Amino acid sequence: MTQDEMKKKVAEAALAYVVEGSMIGVGTGSTANMFIDALATIKDKIQGTVASSEVTAERLRGHGIPVLSLNEALKQVDSLSVYIDGADEFDPKKCLTKGGGGALTREKIVAAASDQFVCIVDSSKQVDCLGAFPLPIEVIPMAENLVMGIAKSVGGEPKVRTGFTTDNGNIIIDVKGLEIHDALALENDLNEVPGVVTNGVFAHQCADVILMGTPDGVQIIE
Ligand code: A5P
Repeated sequence: MTQDEMKKKVAEAALAYVVEGSMIGVGTGSTANMFIDALATIKDKIQGTVASSEVTAERLRGHGIPVLSLNEALKQVDSLSVYIDGADEFDPKKCLTKGGGGALTREKIVAAASDQFVCIVDSSKQVDCLGAFPLPIEVIPMAENLVMGIAKSVGGEPKVRTGFTTDNGNIIIDVKGLEIHDALALENDLNEVPGVVTNGVFAHQCADVILMGTPDGVQIIE
């Protein structure tokens, strides 16, 4: 089975977690795109969606799936029933790194507004220790050099993502070379730096369920 076929299988398997008649959160990336395509087949069974990026919103609308802002949605419901999204890495505690597509801040917000986070990945994303994939940090442009210095002080090799602006008008600094043994602590420490909007460690918003595509089929990790 190819990587794309594994992604498609987990995207389809995620439909089982969509609560009928509810509002759901939808992530960003190639695996999330496959989930959006699968969601289109049951679009009449949901109340609406909240997208974690402009690109995702556009794809959802392209399928005729209703998209609301999070603020609009939370006027109608207390929370989103489920958030379905991919990840760049996941560890044995179901902590994640995300943000390869640069949508980490909205992804974290939508995940926080959801009752359950179902993460859809292929088996290449499974790691013992997070950090081999460069950790993205969304930063207000004025704080670029401040955050670069802090990232170096925690042992990383930071690099500004060139030619990229987030949906929120900020820059992304990708940090290579980290070995993230305490995901919660690193997430907190980086988020305390003035100018950091958020970082791509999802320890507070770790996954509740991971659907992992393998050559033998979909493995459910709870
Ligand atoms: C988007 O900003 C990321 O957090 C994605 O969830 C992550 O990069 C996974 O993307 P793929 O599904 O394309 O691997």
